[in-house]
Amino acid sequence: MPKLLVENLSKSYVQEGQRLPVLDGISFAVEPGAFVAIVGPSGCGKSTLMEIICGLEPADAGTVAVDGKPVTGPGHVAYMPQEDLLFPWRRLIDNLIVPLQLKGVPRHAARQEAHRWLPFFGLDGFADAYPSQLSGGMRQRAALLRTFLTEREIIALDEPFGALDAHTRRRMQVWLADVHRQMRRTVLLITHDVDEALVLADRVVVLGPRPARVVYEADIDLPRPRDILSPAFAAYKGAVLAHLGNGEEDPSAPAVAGPPPGAMAGGRRGH
Ligand SMILES: Nc1ncnc2c1ncn2[C@@H]1O[C@H](COP(=O)(O)OP(=O)(O)OP(=O)(O)O)[C@@H](O)[C@H]1O
Ligand SMILES: [Mg+2]
Repeated sequence: MPKLLVENLSKSYVQEGQRLPVLDGISFAVEPGAFVAIVGPSGCGKSTLMEIICGLEPADAGTVAVDGKPVTGPGHVAYMPQEDLLFPWRRLIDNLIVPLQLKGVPRHAARQEAHRWLPFFGLDGFADAYPSQLSGGMRQRAALLRTFLTEREIIALDEPFGALDAHTRRRMQVWLADVHRQMRRTVLLITHDVDEALVLADRVVVLGPRPARVVYEADIDLPRPRDILSPAFAAYKGAVLAHLGNGEEDPSAPAVAGPPPGAMAGGRRGH
């Protein structure tokens, strides 16, 4: 049974009296422990999809199921929203313990638990710093650690490295791959960085422009750590960019002919 099953989700918002269709019949499945990346053009509905999956926003039609049970509200998924949302008035350690406190863990025990993870998340020595005293990368790692401390089997990350420069972003990707390998949670990652999706994910789901539909999905059958300079990587990237449309996500990307035979074994067109 898939860990997460999204079936036929549709959603419209109303803006200034006009109906704005945002999601149009989205379906995909995520296997237990898998890392699935969702890519799509800006404004296509990625964050809306994530909020519905996390039970924070109702869908107009369709279902989300975790372990076969329909999601009717929040609580199934650890969610890192697109903004880091650290409380500026709380020290790092007290930001990190929020999910533990929400579960009823006493403050002292919660702090001890959070402390244990600081070195692994590159935050050692910063427990007492305020968010304004941390770098952008540290704030994002802190938001990630807080998400992991939520201790749900599914972790949903909405552009977790969006605010970072390319170099820091690459380092964070290596690090997230490592975290996933060690912690073995099911991860859903939204990104508009195709390289990031292909470096990290077991499966990439490509959404088309708003209203979003799944236009392409592929299992990324490449050894880890991924070599972004390999021809097989370039072939996957070419296929994903082709389905994203005009390649606006990465204008510098070289044109790639088709994928080599076999590279797209898991690929299939969406609905
Ligand atoms: N709460 C809301 N009320 C009304 N419209 C909304 C709401 N949230 C999102 N929208 C609209 O839905 C569309 C999709 O927004 P969404 O944030 O899901 O896109 P996105 O793919 O995450 O974009 P980005 O890549 O820029 O993060 C946008 O046109 C946005 O204006
Ligand atoms: Mg978004």
